[in-house]
Amino acid sequence: MRNWVLITGCSTGIGRALVPLCREAGWGVVATARNSAALADLPPGEDLRILPLDVTDAASIAAAAAACADLRLKALVNNAGYGQVGPLELLRPEELRAQFETNVIGLQAVTNAFLPLLRREPSPRILQVASMLGRLSIPLAGPYNASKHAVVALAETLRLEIGREVAVVLVEPGAIRTAFRDTLARAWGDLPERARGTRYEAVIARHLALRKDQAERFAMDAEACARRMLRALNAERPPRRVIIGRDAFWVGRLKALMPAPWWEWLMRRAYGLR
Ligand SMILES: NC(=O)c1ccc[n+]([C@@H]2O[C@H](COP(=O)([O-])OP(=O)(O)OC[C@H]3O[C@@H](n4cnc5c(N)ncnc54)[C@H](OP(=O)(O)O)[C@@H]3O)[C@@H](O)[C@H]2O)c1
Repeated sequence: MRNWVLITGCSTGIGRALVPLCREAGWGVVATARNSAALADLPPGEDLRILPLDVTDAASIAAAAAACADLRLKALVNNAGYGQVGPLELLRPEELRAQFETNVIGLQAVTNAFLPLLRREPSPRILQVASMLGRLSIPLAGPYNASKHAVVALAETLRLEIGREVAVVLVEPGAIRTAFRDTLARAWGDLPERARGTRYEAVIARHLALRKDQAERFAMDAEACARRMLRALNAERPPRRVIIGRDAFWVGRLKALMPAPWWEWLMRRAYGLR
């Protein structure tokens, strides 16, 4: 009887990279995506179940949980998420709300729905995918920063509440090469137009021109990131935190050690917000 792991957001990126690695390691994988047709190219097998799952849709979550009732579900990876960007004062409330619906409320709703199944197995585990931006904030990414800080807080609280029964692992990647930055580009929406004539116009133009290239240059492969997550999934005693990437490690250290005014100067300078 194999152990199963359910992964959210497997259409692309880290979630997609994790599916074959888990299968190679002997896990059965419930691969999920909003549009399950995006998973049709995964090689079929007894160790794979494909399900539609939109983390913002309660009916979709309940249906996915019901469809896993016959499995020995030992692990859950809450990976689905996207980045909403934009200067806070230009942001529409619905943009902030949508960011939290997916990255925070969806993540907790999926966790709650699958906990009864996880609890049936010995040594169950949940991987909550946060970000290095769950520990520090950068300009122009307020909604995303806030959502990932919330993921950290929810995971730390959950660990205090049920950590002795279910291991709760915070995954904190730095920049990973995935579709994330393309989604991010779409998430700008009409913000550049909204910024016209404001102090953010030049900052946004510069950011759009430079950021993707810079981030991609230092980014880690999705597969390397997924390998680190697999190690936590397989661990006899799963770690509390998995910090992935040199940037996540060193920038986090720098923020902790630097006096706040220096850190803020550095951030403003990096984003042309002087
Ligand atoms: N890439 C990075 O640099 C980085 C760094 C730190 C943390 N992370 C985190 O890592 C996780 C995975 O991101 P990624 O880099 O692999 O980006 P990605 O390639 O854009 O993948 C994101 C996945 O989340 C899914 N998703 C979005 N909204 C959803 C919803 N409502 N319900 C179900 N699935 C949904 C997407 O599905 P669709 O195809 O349907 O949109 C996609 O499968 C995210 O939580 C992200 O915040 C990424």
